[in-house]
Amino acid sequence: MHLIARRLREQGFYAEIVPHSAIRKEELEDPRVKAIVLSGGPPSVHVPGAPRIPDWVLDLGKPVLGICYGFQLLAAMLGGRVETGCGEYGRTIVRVLDPGDPLFRGWGSEEQAWMSHGDCVREPPPGSRLLAVSENGYVAAFRAERQGVPIYGVQFHPEVSHTPKGRLLLANFARLAGAEAWWRPENLVDSIVRELRERIREGRVLVAVSGGVDSTVTAVLLRRAIGDRLLAVLVDHGFFREGEVEETLRMLRKAGVEPLLVDARREFMEAVRGVRDPEEKRRRIGETFARVFKRIVEENPDIRYLAQGTLYPDVIESGAAPGADRIKSHHNVGGLPSWLGLEVVEPLREFYKDEVRRLALALGLPRELAYRHPFPGPGLAVRVIGEVTEEKLEIARRASRIVEEELKKAGLYEKVWQAFAVVGDDRWVGVKGDRREEGHIVIVRVVESEDGMTADWTRLPYDVLDSISRRITSEVPGVTMVAYAVTTKPPATIEPQ
Ligand code: XMP
Repeated sequence: MHLIARRLREQGFYAEIVPHSAIRKEELEDPRVKAIVLSGGPPSVHVPGAPRIPDWVLDLGKPVLGICYGFQLLAAMLGGRVETGCGEYGRTIVRVLDPGDPLFRGWGSEEQAWMSHGDCVREPPPGSRLLAVSENGYVAAFRAERQGVPIYGVQFHPEVSHTPKGRLLLANFARLAGAEAWWRPENLVDSIVRELRERIREGRVLVAVSGGVDSTVTAVLLRRAIGDRLLAVLVDHGFFREGEVEETLRMLRKAGVEPLLVDARREFMEAVRGVRDPEEKRRRIGETFARVFKRIVEENPDIRYLAQGTLYPDVIESGAAPGADRIKSHHNVGGLPSWLGLEVVEPLREFYKDEVRRLALALGLPRELAYRHPFPGPGLAVRVIGEVTEEKLEIARRASRIVEEELKKAGLYEKVWQAFAVVGDDRWVGVKGDRREEGHIVIVRVVESEDGMTADWTRLPYDVLDSISRRITSEVPGVTMVAYAVTTKPPATIEPQ
């Protein structure tokens, strides 16, 4: 769902996500809404309680495109035949029967497409046109009409990269619906700044900066809007990477933001001392952040607002899926509790990460910041498996720096989602010179991902792995073995803890 919206936005077509249970007729009737996409979803339209849409959605006179579940739902609503037990998974070839249809402009007669469905459409709705079929002869795309307006469905996923012409299909759909490609996040800087200035007329705004792109862009936008009524705070929890605090301060100062540096290293170390359980570790770090910020708010009674770098996916997620399993209690320096009593300001809540990177460049921030990898709020503390000790922190810190440096040297840094080193308590006997040494095992993890929800491990060239391994064992004291993590997410998560 987010990928569909992102693929459209990347191509300049503005898209918003609305849960099927929250659609309102007045909203969809707005002339700025040019078309409607129904996303993938649950396994079958036949299961009780499967999401539906009201029939009036098809009578709005606006083109509709159903994808996967959305396609099957449309087929069922319009009288086609949806059967169970005819799933197709992974890379497939679809045969396009009507390459003249505007939805398939630029497609050949056979193209690769990604499928992931358990049910299939055996017969398209009566009166509709069959546009494409799958290798198994199931319906892969159809076009129906209401009052001369097209209602399309595609069984495959045009939003994923394994459907090479999927992006094009989405753009074709937007164009045939009369949508214009006007969306450019970087053009919005002035209006965001104006809105912030209008909203925050008095009082100060607290923003917790971490050196990441989201909190930095938030701080720089606020600085432009309200000048020195912004209080940017960088809490040094001691779990930053090598040189990170200094680099963050330098970069923020250059962007006109003078942050208050709070050295809380001792406090955080005390909080996690002796803790092995990952969730407990995260809880204590979160609690310590809250305590530090409570002190700052108490010392500065003129603070009225708390600015956070919340992004669009978090806004959508927080309103949806109650009861979804929580794998880890993620938090970042922005995730501060409501009992601080501050009004929350979220200037990035309309944007995806890649759009925030574009905003960063438009604000004149360095490319290095804009394309920085995500770094968890609890920092290296979750990259140390088991108890956090000074020794293990130092190993994670130095080894991570080496991993990043080697990836940059090989021109791979911006191609991967994250790259880091992890250390735990397991040991490996080594020989250094003619001396026996029982040293630590460092695990290197480099992954590719679209959004952090799923990830694949990166097939790094052997010579890059070799330089990483050699440098870590020779430059980081106490390490005798380097291993490479070759498990996808799922089943593993990206961070070890
Ligand atoms: P996992 O380890 O759950 O991580 O697969 C998915 C993505 O989220 C990042 N991550 C965090 N980000 N606060 C954050 O802001 C956190 O507590 C946190 N824990 C994990 C992780 O780096 C990966 O990109």
